[in-house]
Amino acid sequence: MRVLVLFAHPAQRKSSINTAMAASAKGLESVTFVDLYAEYPRFSIDVDREQRRLLEHDIVVFQFPVFWYSTPALLKQWQDLVLEYGFAYGPRGKMLAGKHLMACITTGGSKSDYSENGGNRRVVEQFLYPLEQTATLCGMEYLPPFVLYSANHLDEEVAQHHIQSYPRLLAALRDDRLAIADVRRLPTFGSFDLPDLVRN
Ligand SMILES: Cc1cc2nc3c(=O)[nH]c(=O)nc-3n(C[C@H](O)[C@H](O)[C@H](O)COP(=O)(O)O)c2cc1C
Repeated sequence: MRVLVLFAHPAQRKSSINTAMAASAKGLESVTFVDLYAEYPRFSIDVDREQRRLLEHDIVVFQFPVFWYSTPALLKQWQDLVLEYGFAYGPRGKMLAGKHLMACITTGGSKSDYSENGGNRRVVEQFLYPLEQTATLCGMEYLPPFVLYSANHLDEEVAQHHIQSYPRLLAALRDDRLAIADVRRLPTFGSFDLPDLVRN
């Protein structure tokens, strides 16, 4: 499978986790890695080029830190401009049908913050519902998100585990070694679930 990673982080100098994840993903063979903020610092997205990229891949991964319960602004801009009527949706807009979308996110909030009784009052996947429905409207299969909670307060060991697991996940998607049927049954998954989900 051809995997396209669209990475969005506007403050990479202050990032500890996403930039390390991105560095480990960049080196992967046959995975296209796009740093959206590096390519479009002025937000002037090349729509034709981005649509071509989508057509050339089977799985689209959005990698981003959750900012105000949503994607960073440039990834929203990308959706607003690239997922055009007649291309991504509408009676003749079927160009993305059959592809997959997965969000790989990091949150400042902990898992318990993202619960009915926690500070955020909802589980994290509920905040991603606009992405899920966008994918569905475009005829894509939305896969459960790969989540790292408490990204600003991690033990070094947990951080390293996640950073090393991310390219494993991408390689498993590329090589069709991820047990998609098992992933579909989960609301979200994390790096410690991967050993049970990846076939060797
Ligand atoms: C502007 C801004 C908004 C944020 N909003 C949220 C949020 O809504 N929910 C949350 O869990 N964390 C939020 N955070 C925390 C980030 O998700 C966290 O810092 C990031 O995932 C850590 O990854 P990094 O080290 O790669 O930057 C926010 C951080 C910033 C700077």
